[in-house]
Amino acid sequence: MTKFNIAKKLDGAQCVVIPVWEEKSFDNSVKQLDKDLGGLLSNMASAKDFESKKMQMSFSLTNDKKVPAVLLVGLGKQKDFGVRDWKKILGAVVIALQGKKLNKFSVLSVDAVAKKLGVKTFGMESVVAVETAGYAYDEHKSEKESRVKPITQVDFAGDLSASEKNNLQKGVEEGVVLGESVNYARHLGNIPPSIMTPSLLAQEAQKLGKENSKLKVKVLSLPEIKKLKMGCLLGVSQGSVEEPKFIIVEYFGSTSRQQPTVLAGKGITFDSGGLGIKPGNYMNDMKFDMLGAATVLGIMRAAVKLGLKKNLVGLIPSCENMPSGSSYRPDDILTAHNGKTVEIMHTDAEGRLILADALSYAVKYKPKEVIDFATLTGACMVALGNERSGVFSNKDGFADKLKSSSDKVGEQLWHLPVGEEYSEAIKSEVADVKNLGGVGGPGYGGASTAAAFLEFFTDYPWAHIDLSCSHYGGKGKAWIRGGANGFGVQTVIDYLR
Ligand code: BES
Ligand code: MN
Ligand code: ZN
Repeated sequence: MTKFNIAKKLDGAQCVVIPVWEEKSFDNSVKQLDKDLGGLLSNMASAKDFESKKMQMSFSLTNDKKVPAVLLVGLGKQKDFGVRDWKKILGAVVIALQGKKLNKFSVLSVDAVAKKLGVKTFGMESVVAVETAGYAYDEHKSEKESRVKPITQVDFAGDLSASEKNNLQKGVEEGVVLGESVNYARHLGNIPPSIMTPSLLAQEAQKLGKENSKLKVKVLSLPEIKKLKMGCLLGVSQGSVEEPKFIIVEYFGSTSRQQPTVLAGKGITFDSGGLGIKPGNYMNDMKFDMLGAATVLGIMRAAVKLGLKKNLVGLIPSCENMPSGSSYRPDDILTAHNGKTVEIMHTDAEGRLILADALSYAVKYKPKEVIDFATLTGACMVALGNERSGVFSNKDGFADKLKSSSDKVGEQLWHLPVGEEYSEAIKSEVADVKNLGGVGGPGYGGASTAAAFLEFFTDYPWAHIDLSCSHYGGKGKAWIRGGANGFGVQTVIDYLR
């Protein structure tokens, strides 16, 4: 657990981090430190290899016992600077310092950045950046020394008024909840697939419920799933030795009888493709196919800990997609919870099937709106890359509201279409819909035909987030390590507020 302090003076920092604009100019507290260090900072700042470009760094040890090391980090140009930039910069600082085995640092001074982003936002997003950058999934490494050392203390030092300090403190407190909830989602996603089964996912949800009495968690097992006639979830799961689970998490934070927002998350704990098995290395990273579910649990965790005055329901259909003698087959016809039928064209298009049952189950809550999260299509990743996710909706303005929340918190969404041509493409000759279609060619518009398939099961305002941005494979980025990234938790909390 990292301790965050709002400090006037520098004490006990192993390293002082100094953010510098490209329009270089030190403020008074940095000038003072520069003097104390005999001009070291101005020398570093005027060196040819440090232009204060975004994320550029310059590190130096000092002879001063109180400030043993300093790190200048470039912020780039003021006009190009936003929340996402700051999170990347501070995240990269954390990873760089961990690489030097340092785990306490001060930021001097916070004034310029804090005032540019808003003091509360600055506090919140700085904490999220530190928490998420500091996290590593390395508990399986047998040598303790080779694991990443957690950051234990961060001080924000600068000239702030009493009310600014107050706001900074509020931001820090919310940032802790958000950062932890993002890491919680990431952690669930990083657990290897033979361990992270539908049963373990359900247990984790139950544990979350035990720790937060305002969350009501219910897990439906095979007999209840059969009773509810969730034929699509049953179909996908029937090739696996792991039993499916349908997880329901309810949070009634509003005292009024407000209709709930339902959050549905794809919980495929491993996607082999089924009988239409994935070729070559396309099966790698398919432990991450439950990240929609992890995002939903992360949002519920954050919502209850922040005490949001909202009614929320999380719905998580969860199973494995495996090949075996009992697997569902291409040409099968499955019947969803709402009685609609689906022709199976490809067993690897399984996410939309289990979500069809969740989206039809959502109807019983008479939801104000439903948002689903799913690692649904490779096509979305091809379109957007892995630093942005696609958002689709059947209601004007809904996707754009989510997109603007994502911009505010430094996550990135992009609005992609549903519409008649995609809905046409998934009509079936032998059932109501088929689980694969293309517009103008096989698989063309794959992210949108998948979305249109989901839309077929909705009769309420609905948005779908195709999580292209859900994991960074093994290597990660300069500001965050590889593995699951917890995309969507912050965006949706901002949207709900
Ligand atoms: N889980 C995958 C989608 C996916 C692939 C997400 C790669 C992230 C990275 C999904 O179940 C799937 O297999 N989709 C297929 C659909 C196709 C068979 C219509 C795909 O995208 O190739
Ligand atoms: Mn698949
Ligand atoms: Zn999948």
